[in-house]
Amino acid sequence: MISKLEREGRLTHIRSPVSVEFEMASIMATLLEKPVMFENVKESKFRVVGGMCSSRDLIAEALNTCKEDLIFKLAEAINNLKSPQTVINAPCQEVVESPDLEKLPIMRYMPKDGGKYITSAICVVKDPEFETQNVCFHRLMLIDKNHLVARIVENRGTDVALKKAGGELDIAICIGNSTASMLAAATSLPMGIDEFSLANALERTDLVKCKTVDLKVPANTEIVLEGKITRNMHAEGPFLDLTTTYDKIREQPIIEIKCITHRKDAIYQTLIPGMHEHRILMGMPKEPTIFNEVSKVCNCKNVYITQGGGNWLHAIVQIIKQQPDDGKKAIDAAFKGHGSLKHCVVVDDDINIYDSDAVEWALATRFQGDKDLVVKPSQPGSSLDPSADLTEGKKALTCKVGFDATIPWDKKDKSFKAESYAKVDLKKYM
Ligand SMILES: Cc1cc2nc3c(=O)[nH]c(=O)nc-3n(C[C@H](O)[C@H](O)[C@H](O)COP(=O)(O)O)c2cc1C
Repeated sequence: MISKLEREGRLTHIRSPVSVEFEMASIMATLLEKPVMFENVKESKFRVVGGMCSSRDLIAEALNTCKEDLIFKLAEAINNLKSPQTVINAPCQEVVESPDLEKLPIMRYMPKDGGKYITSAICVVKDPEFETQNVCFHRLMLIDKNHLVARIVENRGTDVALKKAGGELDIAICIGNSTASMLAAATSLPMGIDEFSLANALERTDLVKCKTVDLKVPANTEIVLEGKITRNMHAEGPFLDLTTTYDKIREQPIIEIKCITHRKDAIYQTLIPGMHEHRILMGMPKEPTIFNEVSKVCNCKNVYITQGGGNWLHAIVQIIKQQPDDGKKAIDAAFKGHGSLKHCVVVDDDINIYDSDAVEWALATRFQGDKDLVVKPSQPGSSLDPSADLTEGKKALTCKVGFDATIPWDKKDKSFKAESYAKVDLKKYM
């Protein structure tokens, strides 16, 4: 993808010397996260690329599809996983070194950040029960030459595997990944499924065995950090999260790095937290999981996780209504398809789900609060919502609300369509 953007003149090159301390992050934000290559980083010999997945169009392009069909491509891949092949020689192992993380261009993004962070890494661990690999993004704060502290969210794949292993687990941290691998890391598949089989279903993704740990990583990764999640803890944060608000400081597990492998001309990848790339990567993979669940109970046409909901908390679900209670069934299924979903609006197939005015219009003209509202108090929800009950040591509790803004079944013969005026050729009248 980098070479394609380069050929087409769509990769911005920053050739002046830049610092990992706020400067690069501010340049990326000012460029509105358009793909950028930093050629001359003051603190490191590695070049840095950013913004590779900063829009739905870029993600779709990398997967040879268009943004409207992305959800269907992802849903199809989830339903047709493909085991990757293992190769012997891989570009990501051209150089094998003892660890010195301080040589990497690890950035500080915002003044209040708890430290320098790796933000684009996808982390591979093996579930001891199933012997399958889980892949997940983890933000990683630099402690010293061979230690990082990882934010490991409870009950996600890494956390579950770590607990089964008794608190210590080998890990491979991949920096500089294909879009397919990044999407696989952002997707939660049922336990016991090798998550690179999703990457491989989207685009051929060969794996290679790591040098010092019993794990496999994509052969085309730029940089791999091999090590171990330890029982030792360290303060992690504060750090900007999806909702563009600061996440609090927590005691989190320390990772000890034993070995670094990389390409000869490796490019370090970054993404700026709280902005589009982070949010799209986080939210978009939930669209196919909601789509698949809603499709089990009614005719689902499309799903959109909105930007206004932090690309995480709000979804618009579009259905072709065929039964009186399809809207309500779709609400329940949507909450199953994405555990952190807080508000869900179900609309008919004539509503443009990407247009918030159109969705609001459906609510205004098709929805009655006393009949069409579903309220589910005290549900397990997202810790990223500052208004939730975030009692320390407990799963966040939230009130989930579904709005059935589909045309009421008993009134479906009435006029609910938005009428439009005929278009004329104005030249005739001027
Ligand atoms: C850019 C980005 C950063 C993320 N950071 C973290 C993180 O620090 N810790 C975490 O547990 N999940 C993080 N996630 C979310 C996981 O990747 C996501 O929930 C994934 O579906 C988990 O899959 P799993 O349950 O199969 O492990 C991040 C996602 C993205 C896209």
